[in-house]
Amino acid sequence: MNKFTLITVVIISVILFAGIWVKLNSDTKESKQPDSSAAGGKTAEMTGVLIAFFSHTGNTRNVAQQIQKETDAAIFEIQPVDSYPQDYKTCVDQAKKEINSNFKPKLKSNGENSDSYDVIFIGSPNWWSTIAPPVATFLSGSDMKGKTIIPFMTHGGTGLGNSVADIKKLCPESTVLDGLAIKASDIKKSQEKVAKWLKEISTKNSIGWR
Ligand SMILES: Cc1cc2nc3c(=O)[nH]c(=O)nc-3n(C[C@H](O)[C@H](O)[C@H](O)COP(=O)(O)O)c2cc1C
Repeated sequence: MNKFTLITVVIISVILFAGIWVKLNSDTKESKQPDSSAAGGKTAEMTGVLIAFFSHTGNTRNVAQQIQKETDAAIFEIQPVDSYPQDYKTCVDQAKKEINSNFKPKLKSNGENSDSYDVIFIGSPNWWSTIAPPVATFLSGSDMKGKTIIPFMTHGGTGLGNSVADIKKLCPESTVLDGLAIKASDIKKSQEKVAKWLKEISTKNSIGWR
């Protein structure tokens, strides 16, 4: 092999290796794209609205379902590992102790993709004028920075109580909108009220649900 042939072979080899390297590198990058199936077909950029709620006796679940009917949003039930006592007085006493000591009960799950939603409805029964402890656990355990949080509460007479202020304390880097309070005895006929409220916050904050 003369000198000219050797140089030609070296140049062709370098070009071939460079081509293979570029191809392998682009394949690796492609495989690092987010797995859209993990978010039910939605990527982080496309994410929408999540309704996360805790309900002990079903009232807040009913309102969560009313919101879902109007928005088609994803829904997630916040469930503590240890459920609360069925006996009303025992439950009230336990809740009082937990709230006074800032206790955050362990949850069965924090929701697989909760962090990837931009707008989160957060629902809770009014317990001692604030959110129930499992809701505090959920808010503390998820990355709420930069998200819009929309509270809704069901109650026996004292409305939102301190819940919105307490949510703001737990999520200082989120935008927390005005909440909706539905009295337990009004839930069966609250679909219209929910729809009206959703329309108002959608217009006021330029948020689309569907
Ligand atoms: C532990 C506990 C504390 C409560 N504290 C209040 C309260 O401070 N103010 C109020 O209006 N209702 C209070 N209630 C009533 C609930 O907020 C109301 O029944 C609510 O709709 C229950 O929602 P759920 O069915 O989703 O659990 C309390 C209920 C319980 C069990």
